Amino acid sequence: MPRAVAHLKRRETVGPGHYLLHLACPEIAASAQPGQFIHLRVGDGTDPLLRRPFSVMLTNPDEDDVQVLVRTVGRGTELIADHEEGKQYDLLGPLGHGWPKPGPGEDIMLVAGGVGVAPLIFLADSLRTVEDRPYVRAIFGGADQDALVCWTEFASRCEEFTAVTEDGSAGETGLVTDVLVPEIERDRPQRAYACGPDAMLAVVAEICAGAGIPLHVSMEQWMGCGVGACLGCAIPAAEGGYVRVCTEGPVFDADQIDWERMNER
Ligand SMILES: Cc1cc2nc3c(=O)[nH]c(=O)nc-3n(C[C@H](O)[C@H](O)[C@H](O)COP(=O)(O)OP(=O)(O)OC[C@H]3O[C@@H](n4cnc5c(N)ncnc54)[C@H](O)[C@@H]3O)c2cc1C
Ligand code: FES
Repeated sequence: MPRAVAHLKRRETVGPGHYLLHLACPEIAASAQPGQFIHLRVGDGTDPLLRRPFSVMLTNPDEDDVQVLVRTVGRGTELIADHEEGKQYDLLGPLGHGWPKPGPGEDIMLVAGGVGVAPLIFLADSLRTVEDRPYVRAIFGGADQDALVCWTEFASRCEEFTAVTEDGSAGETGLVTDVLVPEIERDRPQRAYACGPDAMLAVVAEICAGAGIPLHVSMEQWMGCGVGACLGCAIPAAEGGYVRVCTEGPVFDADQIDWERMNER
């Protein structure tokens, strides 16, 4: 399993409870693909015992730079919020399967909820320099404007961008799915990509299935080992049984997942 050491070069506050880590890690900067994640040991010693998974948001191999967006939700991410420059992390990565590439010139739609924006920024960034680049439309949603972290990094990498908040404090008012439906009716994309809360992904999957649009989703499950051994990250598979997010994912074709059983969890 790929193991590396990263140094915290800079920690930027990008919104309330949201931090952008700039890590020095040549191995990850050189090899991470959009959609892959790193599994960070966030504490010293055994508190907390388990590593925490985070998507790679951007890399700059020339500067050995890796950017990771972190939202504080519990013990591990609160520790990260206090880390000073120079903090050394032990990490595993890059792990998992990333996003499948769109076809040349395809019209694609990216749908992000909250920190689910991170792997989609990396995808949009990777498409900027490809020949016959796809036409990228994006919808980014959150509860309020504070949740739309790093939106300029996202918007600047897309041809069309719509922000949407539940309380109307930024962009349109409503849920990402309220914007997705009319966007599809206006101009049906050939492929869609989504990352965000499970409930959002389930509705996006239903909408895309109904419109016959192939959809790739990145699942953000609780993880233990991160390398396929503990089954802590297993989610219900459409063909029965379970799939592991850490090794078979985190990116799946939406029709690989049993959304009904996901909704019952
Ligand atoms: C592949 C992958 C990529 C991810 N990328 C990012 C990212 O780019 N940025 C980011 O901020 N977070 C990301 N996450 C989620 C992140 O790993 C968790 O928020 C983090 O592990 C929580 O650690 P904690 O110790 O702070 O919280 P804990 O104390 O472990 O948990 C606090 C609360 O959050 C819940 N929780 C913990 N993990 C998750 C989860 N994965 N999904 C939903 N609820 C959870 C717990 O049930 C609990 O209620 C990703 C997760 C996965 C699997
Ligand atoms: S986290 Fe252990 S199998 Fe996926």
